[in-house]
Amino acid sequence: MAESLPYLSGSEIRDKFLKFFETRQHKILPSASLVPEDPTVLLTIAGMLPFKPIFLGQEKAPQPRATTSQKCIRTNDIENVGRTARHHTFFEMLGNFSFGDYFKEQAIAWAWELSTQVYKLPPDRIIVSVFQDDDEAFDIWRDRLGIPAHRIQRMGEKDNFWKSGATGPCGPCSELYYDFHPELGDQNIDLEDDSRFIEYYNLVFMQYNRDADGNLAPLENKNIDTGLGLERMAQILQQVPNNYETDLIFPIIKTAAEIADIDYIKADGKTKTSLKVIGDHVRSVVHMIADGITASNTDRGYVLRRLIRRVVRHGRLVGIEGNFVNQVAETAIALSEVAYPNVRSRSEFIKNELQREESQFLKTLERGEKLLAEILEKKPQQISGVEAFTLYDTYGFPLELTQEIAEEQGLTVDVDGFNVEMEQQRDRARAAHETIDLTVQGSIDKLAEHIHPTEFSGYSELQSAVKVEAVLVEGKPVEVAEAGAEIQVILDRTPFYGESGGQVGDKGYLSGDNLVIRISDVQKESGFFVHYGKVERGTLKTSETVTAKIDRACRRRVQANHTATHLLQAALKKIVDDSISQAGSLVDFDRLRFDFNSPRGLKPEEVQQVEELVNTWISEAHTADVNIMAIAEAKAKGATAMFGEKYGAEVRVIDFPGVSMELCGGTHVNNTAEIGVFKIISETGISSGIRRIEAVAGAAVLDYLKVRDKVVKELSEKFKVKPEEVGERVNNLQSELKATQKELAALKQELAVAKSDGLLSQAEAIGEFKILVANMGDLDAKSLQAAGERLQQKLGDSAVIVGSIPAAGKVSLVAAFSEKVIKEKKLQAGKFIGGIAKICGGGGGGRPNLAQAGGRDASKLGEALDSAKQQLVEGLG
Ligand code: SER
Repeated sequence: MAESLPYLSGSEIRDKFLKFFETRQHKILPSASLVPEDPTVLLTIAGMLPFKPIFLGQEKAPQPRATTSQKCIRTNDIENVGRTARHHTFFEMLGNFSFGDYFKEQAIAWAWELSTQVYKLPPDRIIVSVFQDDDEAFDIWRDRLGIPAHRIQRMGEKDNFWKSGATGPCGPCSELYYDFHPELGDQNIDLEDDSRFIEYYNLVFMQYNRDADGNLAPLENKNIDTGLGLERMAQILQQVPNNYETDLIFPIIKTAAEIADIDYIKADGKTKTSLKVIGDHVRSVVHMIADGITASNTDRGYVLRRLIRRVVRHGRLVGIEGNFVNQVAETAIALSEVAYPNVRSRSEFIKNELQREESQFLKTLERGEKLLAEILEKKPQQISGVEAFTLYDTYGFPLELTQEIAEEQGLTVDVDGFNVEMEQQRDRARAAHETIDLTVQGSIDKLAEHIHPTEFSGYSELQSAVKVEAVLVEGKPVEVAEAGAEIQVILDRTPFYGESGGQVGDKGYLSGDNLVIRISDVQKESGFFVHYGKVERGTLKTSETVTAKIDRACRRRVQANHTATHLLQAALKKIVDDSISQAGSLVDFDRLRFDFNSPRGLKPEEVQQVEELVNTWISEAHTADVNIMAIAEAKAKGATAMFGEKYGAEVRVIDFPGVSMELCGGTHVNNTAEIGVFKIISETGISSGIRRIEAVAGAAVLDYLKVRDKVVKELSEKFKVKPEEVGERVNNLQSELKATQKELAALKQELAVAKSDGLLSQAEAIGEFKILVANMGDLDAKSLQAAGERLQQKLGDSAVIVGSIPAAGKVSLVAAFSEKVIKEKKLQAGKFIGGIAKICGGGGGGRPNLAQAGGRDASKLGEALDSAKQQLVEGLG
């Protein structure tokens, strides 16, 4: 009965599972990253995923049995998160695995023992299912474990045949369910009724491989893959109504509720749902970022962005304003740090990324929400594709978010219309980047019908005898091209590298009898290498054989830069952060550029260390080892792949053993020593979360140094100091300049004061007082004040107002009143001048005897001074 269930914390459930299988000869392995090795899925979706190559027989199992607690993310049911009792994006799957070792009977027996002896679930609360045809499993449950036949449900392929995707390892499975309401009796058992049953443990008898046509082939070994949902077991043993209220998630919800000043228990259903969404998603985003994913508009970066944005939006729905995600993230980190220490070691990185994404989204969210409210106010039947796209493109609302909001209002979104807009935008972007003349593309598509794609010979040779397959002039095929013609040439094979993977196309010549064609660029189009060039001498004919020869010096420079780019990436990973990933690159003849994901800029000392490490590797003279291999093998070896890039089954791996290993189709030096030297020119941010390093290598470093050297030489000649003393000289000059400016200001004041004496005669007597109101031209504020003060002192019992226009659109005013004016006439300089300055569109004030004010409307200075005079006459009369 429920009352007798032992309370176990989430971490106790996890520990007991792993220990149970450890004592049964399973090796406890750490959770794999959420970023899977397997290129067919974006995120790790099950505990078995890291073992897929072993199940498929592609890799040998290091040990016959393993057990893990695997962090997983699934987003296919995201809209159910917070609404049902047990849907999650992030969850932990506890698994025991057999790689060709024990099978069905043992897996079932241990699952039962674990459930009833360790977690102490009452046997009469457990119901099991088996695949419809799996009599063997049925018999084991009934005969060996004594489960009554009516509590063993046979289920169809949808429920009890497990596969990780359309293809791959799979097999029938048997599931264990916990019954929350045994009082409802054993008649009409419906395992899909999740108000009564919760499936907590799935035992997969992994014995087939499914191919793309859906055919099943037996695997070499019979394996076991199981998954026990940690959050689900926690819900059962902690006797809470849903997974969110377990100790694995509830503290996060509590933190969010506290920020929103809400009592979760008393909150309404909608508020609870929002808090649950926050509780669930925050776990996902913390672990995703810890595993190196950063927010972007594609692939897992998009999943991350969408989850963060949902957190922000649900925060607003419960009344939180401003940034809050990091506060809840801290709770999530604290909850996970023992089982997954990387969330703590990378907490700074996690929080920076969250802060950045949250702030960025908050900026547009409000405007987006306003637009959405306007759209909804019109009571449309549907949100149009254009509207959804504007929300996406301008306001950062993921389509799914708009769909959710629409759904809350009982509306739909025109997704097809949205996709049309999206496609049009892609076309626009493509057109903007298109460098190839579209007519060339059109002609090439036609040529593809009768000529073969170009064979690339340039990894091993720099010069080849080649056949001219086609010549294009202004994008149209021609039979001959005469001297002077700008042409595009397609050859049967070529040593010229075609621009790809960031590396620019080779330069060089095509030559024959009395024929010279200079090639300035090579682009790859639909499998053809298009050589862009000009006929310098002779006539080029289609079908003739010519010699294609690349410019070796240029090639040497480009490949030094390309290898340097690989070393740079390796050094960044080593010195700054192992999770840095490439976001783009340019490898040119005289420079290189490397873009990478990073939430922060590099510190100057990091830039220096990276540069030094690359130069160390260069001087250590590492030899390249270039191999073609299966993608799985390359990944298993730890080769760096470009995130988001699609690779074929076979890949080329450039390995400088112990230094850098990357998947790459580019050309490289044979030995790092050929690079010579490497210099970073700059490190800057180019867009949110993306940094760029520009650098030079080899001979280009010399060019760079020459320019720098020239500048320093010029400066040292000008300043007449040694080059290394230029910095100090500039500092001294700056101090001297400051001192001179100060002196100049003082002199100006003195001059103003002296000049002001000439105004004394303009003072008028009003009763026993003297007044003087004067425009002092372009005096600066300080000098004006000195002059005003001096005039008042010289005039004795007096009130002085002076004004000036020190710069265009700027007015300065000063009032200086003597003691008697203040005491007897109750006029105060501060107040007085404030009123005057208003006339010139400004304000200001100060002490009763001396005050200064400013204004912006210089055309009103005369009016202001007139008014001052009149007020003084009245005030002192
Ligand atoms: N692969 C199975 C699942 O995900 C068992 O671990 O349910």
